[in-house]
Amino acid sequence: MQIKNAEQLFIRLLSEVNNAERQITKALPKLAKATDNQQLSEAFQTHLEETRGQVERLEQVVDSVESLRLKRIKCYPMESLIEESQDLIDNIERGPLLDAALIGAVQKVEHFEIAAYGTLCALAGQLGYTDAKNLLAETLKEEESTDEKLSTLAKNDVNQKAG
Ligand SMILES: [Fe+2]
Ligand SMILES: [Fe+2]
Repeated sequence: MQIKNAEQLFIRLLSEVNNAERQITKALPKLAKATDNQQLSEAFQTHLEETRGQVERLEQVVDSVESLRLKRIKCYPMESLIEESQDLIDNIERGPLLDAALIGAVQKVEHFEIAAYGTLCALAGQLGYTDAKNLLAETLKEEESTDEKLSTLAKNDVNQKAG
C-alpha cells in the first residue's frame, strides 16, 4: 500500500493498532492463566477488559472521521511480542521467575502501544480530527497507567520473589 500523505499514514497506523489490540485480547487470558500471583493475574484481567474497551473505542475513532475505513493489516510486531511471551511460558517453570518474565513481556506490548497511540494522537491533531485525537488520548492514558502499574508490581513484589 502506497502512503503519500498524513491521512493515509493515519489509516495505515490505525489499522495496524486495531489488529494489535485484537491479537492482545486473545493473548491476555493465556497470560493471566500462566501466573499464580493474584495481583498480577488481576492486573492482566483488568487490562483485558480495558483492551476490549479500546477495540470499541477504535470503532468510535473510525466513525468520528468521515469516509475513514480500516484496512486489513497484520501487526507483525505484536505477533512477535506475543510469540515471545508464549515462548517464556513454555520455557520457564511456573512461579515468581515466570511472573517477572511475563511482566517484562507485557510491558514490551504496552511500550509498543504507547508509541503507536502517541503517533496516532499527533497525526489526528495534525489532520484536525479532534474527536479521534481525544479518543486515542484516552487509550494512550490507559496503556501508560498499565505500564506504570506493572512496573510497581515488579518492583514491590514479583522481582524480589524471583531473585
Ligand atoms: Fe491496548
Ligand atoms: Fe495495552
